[in-house]
Amino acid sequence: MQVQLPDITIAYEDSGPQLSTRPTILFIHGYPLNRKLWQLQISDLADSARMLIPDLRGFGESHATPGPYSMELLADDCNAFLDQLGVVESIIICGLSMGGYIAFAFFRKYSWRVRGLILTATRAGADSLEAKTNRDKAIALAEKEGSEAIVRLMLPKMLSAQTYASRPELVEHVRGILSSASVHGITGVLAGMRDRPDSTPLLAQITVPTLLIFGEEDQFVPRSDFEAMRDAIHGSQLHLIPNAGHLPNLEQPETYNALVRAYLAAFTENH
Ligand code: MLT
Repeated sequence: MQVQLPDITIAYEDSGPQLSTRPTILFIHGYPLNRKLWQLQISDLADSARMLIPDLRGFGESHATPGPYSMELLADDCNAFLDQLGVVESIIICGLSMGGYIAFAFFRKYSWRVRGLILTATRAGADSLEAKTNRDKAIALAEKEGSEAIVRLMLPKMLSAQTYASRPELVEHVRGILSSASVHGITGVLAGMRDRPDSTPLLAQITVPTLLIFGEEDQFVPRSDFEAMRDAIHGSQLHLIPNAGHLPNLEQPETYNALVRAYLAAFTENH
């Protein structure tokens, strides 16, 4: 499906029941991924929630404009996307990695729309000086050599040792997703992530139920950052998933989906 925003077309999936007794979840993918990241949630959580799953600007089948794409711009896209679909109820946002950075930007601006957060493999802090320099190097690399150079950089770090050793089809699936990213998308969000603000001060203002899910072998987010988020977000629950790296929802879908389903039960019963 596609929806027209003022300057771009967004491709998306709208799955699961549209019932007042079921919550609505907006899934936001990470970098340099697309909505295919969530395919094992679409199939398995179909009875639990309405799931809205867009390709972000520059990724998947959505339109790519020249960057930079600030996290705020991508949050504004999500807000306009919800408006276009006529979503009036408050939603749960499920964001992975960069999707979490966008969830923070969304919460900063549109908190009235948010009734819950599922934050996976993400962090609240801004980029360090070293990380900013690495973003600039990755931008130069993508401009010179295209998305395949980014695949070479990212793919060897994204998954757990067990996934690399025993799930070649999943590794290839992730490679396919990464390879399909447009250069505009890659460079646009690299600049946006480099310049994103520190969301740490926001954490104390988050009062909606928050579920934190982290793969024990995540090479992108230090565990201490994740534990600091748990300590700062009142009432949040942290779950670590063994044998998962940066994409626990794809690597250990049964465990991930069971955590999400348990979290959603409270929203379903409260109606
Ligand atoms: C992601 O998966 O979205 C990225 O690893 C986030 C980042 O590079 O900071």
